[in-house]
Amino acid sequence: MPRSVVTGAAGFIGSHVVDRLLTLGHDVTGVDCFTDYYDRAFKEANIEEARTNAKFQLLEDDLVTMDLPALLDGANYVFHQAGQAGVRPSWGAHFSGYIRNNIDATQRLLEAAKDAKLTKFVFASSSSIYGDARELPVTEETIPQPISPYGVTKLAAEHLCSLYAKIYDLPTISLRYFTVYGPRQRSEMAIQHFLSACRSGETVSMFGDGTQTRDFTFVDDIVEANVRAMEASGPTVVNVCGGSRISLNDLLELLQETSGRPLHVEREPAAQGDAKHTFGDNSLAHRVLGFEPRTTLAQGVAAQWRWLNDSSQ
Ligand SMILES: NC(=O)c1ccc[n+]([C@@H]2O[C@H](COP(=O)([O-])OP(=O)(O)OC[C@H]3O[C@@H](n4cnc5c(N)ncnc54)[C@H](O)[C@@H]3O)[C@@H](O)[C@H]2O)c1
Repeated sequence: MPRSVVTGAAGFIGSHVVDRLLTLGHDVTGVDCFTDYYDRAFKEANIEEARTNAKFQLLEDDLVTMDLPALLDGANYVFHQAGQAGVRPSWGAHFSGYIRNNIDATQRLLEAAKDAKLTKFVFASSSSIYGDARELPVTEETIPQPISPYGVTKLAAEHLCSLYAKIYDLPTISLRYFTVYGPRQRSEMAIQHFLSACRSGETVSMFGDGTQTRDFTFVDDIVEANVRAMEASGPTVVNVCGGSRISLNDLLELLQETSGRPLHVEREPAAQGDAKHTFGDNSLAHRVLGFEPRTTLAQGVAAQWRWLNDSSQ
């Protein structure tokens, strides 16, 4: 059976990748250092079920300091999901954490990976590398111009992956995720933030006038792209978007409809680093991965609302 390493295994996306690989019968080693970006209890809950599977082991360790050749020994696939997420906190003093967990960690992992006999190294990149692109939808040919320090670090890590592919023939592929949502979504992200407020009745803040748009991607579709990337050959950078572009104002309507509860929103000025629009072109993902997003925003939001009510989040 294939052996896979998933970094960031206790996080939102990493834990879903773990679950899927286990259903495919892989032996999975997860690594996570449980950064304090959000409450550890959420991450523990994310991997609770995987931990009952004998084919899964979780190493609580830090990619920046751990023995990575030992980690990759005998591995066929790496799904590198670990990182410091979040656009708004990436300014100021927090930036060093972004350099550490997005750039340093990736460079160390690539150094170890170049000497391992991997079939594929899949990296979780981000639509944030595009910034405020002049033409939409963005394709992989669009010149990356991040407008947040977070985006700069994801772009640097992505360039490192492509560089190791070129110089060392390491089979890397970077998947540029467009705003991922679904069960286990991080609590500061829009849909989770607003659905939680629908449930509690609390007033929440919203940045910007609500005309900004996002191309939302359901987490199962992101996982599907990762699984398909195991067999991919060709380009080292591919967009993965959900095809569910919507303005924040329309999203608020959908969330209220889905939950059947009113939302009390306080509007605040747009945040530095937030792109006005994200909208990606999936054509390359379709050609290279045979990828098509399967979950509509209405279906995905309903699934997230059900999960929120069934879990103790
Ligand atoms: N969520 C999105 O919408 C989105 C969009 C684009 C890209 N991404 C990327 O996808 C990846 C996963 O995002 P997420 O939303 O699941 O975030 P998350 O914070 O839930 O998960 C990331 C995990 O990585 C772990 N981690 C961080 N640094 C580490 C290190 N040095 N060693 C070991 N573990 C470490 C954290 O503890 C965390 O559990 C990130 O790389 C993020 O940049 C996410």
